[in-house]
This record gives sequence, C-alpha cells and structure tokens, in this order.
Amino acid sequence: MKSLIVSTYSPEETLALGRMLARWLEPGDAINLVGDLGAGKTVLVKGIASGLGIDPALVTSPTFSLIHEYTGDVPVFHFDAYRLKHPEEWENLGYEEYLRGSGISVVEWGDLVEPYLPSEYLEVQIKREEAQRDGRIVEFRPMGQRFQRVIQELGKELQHADFSYRYCDNDR
Ligand SMILES: Nc1ncnc2c1ncn2[C@@H]1O[C@H](COP(=O)(O)OP(=O)(O)O)[C@@H](O)[C@H]1O
Ligand SMILES: [Mg+2]
Repeated sequence: MKSLIVSTYSPEETLALGRMLARWLEPGDAINLVGDLGAGKTVLVKGIASGLGIDPALVTSPTFSLIHEYTGDVPVFHFDAYRLKHPEEWENLGYEEYLRGSGISVVEWGDLVEPYLPSEYLEVQIKREEAQRDGRIVEFRPMGQRFQRVIQELGKELQHADFSYRYCDNDR
C-alpha cells in the first residue's frame, strides 16, 4: 500500500485538507487519528466536519465524554480514546453500533483501541515539522483497498489546490 504525505503550514491549511478529504468519505467509514497532543488531530476533524456541512466551532475533542455526535449531511461520530483507562470501557459505548452505522467515525488516539477498529480504515498520522512552528506533516495510511482509492482521489485534488504532497511505499 502507498501512503499519502502532505505538508501543511497553518491550522487553516489543515482545515482545508480535512474538508477535501471529507468529499471522499462515505457512511460506515472510520478514521484513526494518531499524533501527540497539539499535533492537530482535532483541527483535521473540524475540517472533515465542515466538509460534511457541520459548523467546525461545534467540534471539540471529546476527551472526557469519549464521544461527540454531530449532525451534518451524514452523522459524524467523534471519539477520543486518550483518557480511556481500560480498553473495555470502549465496549460500553456501543462503539460497534457506531462503526457499523450510517455515519462517519473519527477516532483520536485510535491506536489505544486498535483491536476495536474495523478491518478497513484510514489511519492519519500528524507530526510537527521541526523546522517550522506551524508546519505539520500529515500522513494518510490506507488500511484496505477502499482507502487506497480515497487517497488517490485526494492526491489529485491536492495537486489542483497547490498543496505539497507525495506518495510513499509503506510496509502495510
Ligand atoms: N499546520 C497546523 N495544522 C493544525 N494545527 C496547527 C497547525 N499549526 C499550528 N496548529 C495549532 O496546533 C494546535 C492543534 O490542536 P489540536 O487540533 O487540538 O491538537 P490535537 O487534537 O492533536 O491534540 C492548535 O492550537 C492549532 O492552532
Ligand atoms: Mg484533540
């Protein structure tokens, strides 16, 4: 599989990237967002939500409640596993219903609940760009064929939007 690696240089660019990604998402899709505190996971979720007709101001990390639900063109289920003490707590959320359901699920710190993720999902790793304060490196790693196609389409769009991006082979 190939990853798509995109550089952004401001929160606004990460928002725009999320908006572009949203166009290719469908109900039932899941996204696992990986990255340190302050990397920009929630900013990317705001962009995705905005692309689905949701006011980004409504989007905040569900750090304590574990899940926020937003209603847009399709429902968006926004999870944050950071404060989860036991992975079993996840089961009490009825997470399976969400992941199987009619909405799009985005999970911050999804690696902490990896066994509960569906077999196919899009992993997004966000890292700070050391040399630039507001620079971020956003890597889209598709798990499964469908998301391979999604990042292919996203790449075409990035080209027109003047983002700097590249594809890279990965081990999965
Ligand atoms: N290129 C960028 N992309 C996203 N956020 C950025 C960028 N540059 C600076 N920031 C700032 O980094 C912070 C990211 O916060 P947030 O999205 O809440 O992080 P996380 O959810 O990963 O903990 C915000 O304050 C945002 O303004
Ligand atoms: Mg967050």
